[in-house]
Amino acid sequence: MFVKLLTVIFFVILLIKSSYQVLDNFTYNGFHPPLNLISLQGIASVIPSDLLTLTNSTSHQTGHAFYTRPIRFKDTPNDAVSSFSTSFVFAIHSQIPTLGGDGIAFVVAPTSSLPSARSGQYLGLFNLMNNGNETNNIFAVELDTIQNNEFDDTNDNHVGIDINSLKSVKSSPAGYWDEKGRFKELTLISGKPMQVWVDYNGRTHQINVTIAPFHHDKPIKPLVSTVRDLSHVFLQDMFVGFSSSTGLIKTKHVVLGWSFRLKGKAPPLALHRLPEFREWQPRTSGSISPFTSVFIPVSVVPLIVFIFSLIFLVRFILRRRRKFAEKLEDWETEFRKNRLNFKDLYYATRGFSDLLGSGVFGSVYKGVMKKKEIAVKRVSNESRQGLKEFVSEIVSIGRMSHRNLVPLLGYCRRKNELLLVYEYMPNGSLDKYLYHSPEVTLDWKQRFKVIQGVASALFYLHEDWEQVVIHRDIKASNILLDADYNGRLGDFGLARLCDHGIDHKTTHVAGTWGYLAPDHVRTGKATTATDVFAFGVLLLEVACGRRPIKIDNESGERALLVDWVFGFWNEGNILDAKDPNLGTEYDQREVEMVLKLGLLCSHSNPQARPTMRQVLHYVSGDAMLPDFSPLELHGNEMMLGTHHGIREIGMFTCRSSMVDSVLSGGR
Ligand SMILES: Nc1ncnc2c1ncn2[C@@H]1O[C@H](COP(=O)(O)OP(=O)(O)O)[C@@H](O)[C@H]1O
Ligand SMILES: *[C@@H]1O[C@H](CO)[C@@H](O)[C@H](O)[C@H]1NC(C)=O
Ligand SMILES: *[C@@H]1O[C@H](CO)[C@@H](O)[C@H](O)[C@H]1NC(C)=O
Ligand SMILES: *[C@@H]1O[C@H](CO)[C@@H](O)[C@H](O)[C@H]1NC(C)=O
Ligand SMILES: *[C@@H]1O[C@H](CO)[C@@H](O)[C@H](O)[C@H]1NC(C)=O
Ligand SMILES: [Mg+2]
Repeated sequence: MFVKLLTVIFFVILLIKSSYQVLDNFTYNGFHPPLNLISLQGIASVIPSDLLTLTNSTSHQTGHAFYTRPIRFKDTPNDAVSSFSTSFVFAIHSQIPTLGGDGIAFVVAPTSSLPSARSGQYLGLFNLMNNGNETNNIFAVELDTIQNNEFDDTNDNHVGIDINSLKSVKSSPAGYWDEKGRFKELTLISGKPMQVWVDYNGRTHQINVTIAPFHHDKPIKPLVSTVRDLSHVFLQDMFVGFSSSTGLIKTKHVVLGWSFRLKGKAPPLALHRLPEFREWQPRTSGSISPFTSVFIPVSVVPLIVFIFSLIFLVRFILRRRRKFAEKLEDWETEFRKNRLNFKDLYYATRGFSDLLGSGVFGSVYKGVMKKKEIAVKRVSNESRQGLKEFVSEIVSIGRMSHRNLVPLLGYCRRKNELLLVYEYMPNGSLDKYLYHSPEVTLDWKQRFKVIQGVASALFYLHEDWEQVVIHRDIKASNILLDADYNGRLGDFGLARLCDHGIDHKTTHVAGTWGYLAPDHVRTGKATTATDVFAFGVLLLEVACGRRPIKIDNESGERALLVDWVFGFWNEGNILDAKDPNLGTEYDQREVEMVLKLGLLCSHSNPQARPTMRQVLHYVSGDAMLPDFSPLELHGNEMMLGTHHGIREIGMFTCRSSMVDSVLSGGR
């Protein structure tokens, strides 16, 4: 009896043991419901089409599938973990082709469910609290499509070996090594099925994870390989299965086939018998996938956005073209190389943002072009006729090079606007040093150097150049100072533009009040002598540090600088007219000569004025200014003549700003 019982017990034990043995290998070529020995949890399902669908395009969900029978990994509780091998085919499809979430893991766990595990980056394996805890007894191979920096993920498309933690003990970007030893990348979320092999050698403790495209032979070299004794991780009996989770992006994780074997190589899958996963295939017109409804908003929205941005782009380009529109006219072709693009000037001056100053003819802006500082003058002009002559003159002047002229670098014409590009003069215009801000001034040496420079430039324009060029607007603000405080004459010919801009029935005079010769006012004609007159006024200005016209604040009476200096001379002490800011460091004879020369040049009778050639001789010391008395220079009638011309303000109507300038007494 006892022996019989013993025999029964022995057979039961043998049966149980052998049943474990029998269950140590299994193969699923597709998952046909009703599922044999597989339990599903979370949103996992096998409907439809024999796919083990772990997650089905739902956000923030987990799905689990476990083989319901435990696997005896250790023959006795204190044995080492036996070798095992598994292989499966999976696919991941994301609604957004470039973004997925989160992944699939092959898992070996002590229970056949992981109820406390979280979705998202926890892959349905762990949660915030137990991640990394050694008592988890979880081994997993993750196929992760999100880069979680908290887990030191290498990228958003990697394969890793996880032990009790989502911080992989070893991981690699997804891919495989082909026969020739080249690494081929694989995109996990491509929707294409891929095969994975996980092999553990119980003797060497080597863990190999290999991945390859569907129908591809198992690569010889594993993708991820590490040596770890799993004896401390595995309990004697463990459950094998899959875990998957989604994050925000609706992603489908499926397993097409699976095989497992303890103490041996996983049975090969019958790849041709696996269910089809069509999601990744290009959709044909006949078959409408369940994703169509989601694809419509996903693909139509970018299309609408694209169309709208196209419209915006076209409008932007059109507006820009209008903004930068400029037309080259026939007559301009010969000046083409002097012509600059408005667009370039616009950018060079940063949209005309840095205003240097405004004058009668327009505003001057600072800019940088080709690493060179420039001053761009914008002149608005209504007359086409005048413009043509002006441009030809300005370009011919641009060809001049004289060290006392402000170099003209080019011009640009657009609509009713003319832009002149000059070299930037770092020390600004002479007027600033004379009366705008008395705190910075020039000493006599510097002033005399400026006078000499301007005289030489004006002589060049009048006599030394191939044609006679009349400047027409000599005044302190048109004398610019370069880095070495050399006087440089700027703004040539602009006054002429003004002359032409007006109808020719009446006589109009352009120039700046206070510098206008009476003969110029009378005849309306600019000559070299009228330039000399203005130069004479400039000489007096430089020596006296005063504006050409002084308006008495109380009476409104205008006093001319010429008269004022002449008064001192008449009393026999012309040097009293000099600028008190000059101090004591000056050459008395030079100052006296400049004052007298100024009076001579601004003689009301043009014939009495010297030529620039003579002036240059005087200021360079090559010739002595002839000695003359005040009475010889001027009969009183002469001075009155000057007065007479100046009082007829009504004649000066070049343009309103011109009149403003007239009334403000010159600049
Ligand atoms: N090439 C230049 N470099 C530096 N500053 C300049 C240049 N050209 C003109 N400016 C400045 O711009 C101001 C305005 O010039 P402009 O329009 O010619 O008026 P105006 O000569 O009547 O004062 C001038 O006072 C001068 O200070
Ligand atoms: C396990 O594999 C062996 C051969 O490798 C096979 O004979 C046996 O039938 C398999 N067992 C099961 C349950 O499939
Ligand atoms: C996903 O599966 C769950 C549970 O099976 C179901 O309730 C849900 O409707 C499914 N969602 C989709 C998008 O198929
Ligand atoms: C690991 O988990 C066990 C059981 O839940 C718990 O008692 C222990 O405190 C945890 N250890 C750590 C370090 O969190
Ligand atoms: C892992 O891969 C290496 C290299 O191919 C191989 O030598 C080793 O036998 C493999 N180990 C297992 C357990 O498959
Ligand atoms: Mg000027």
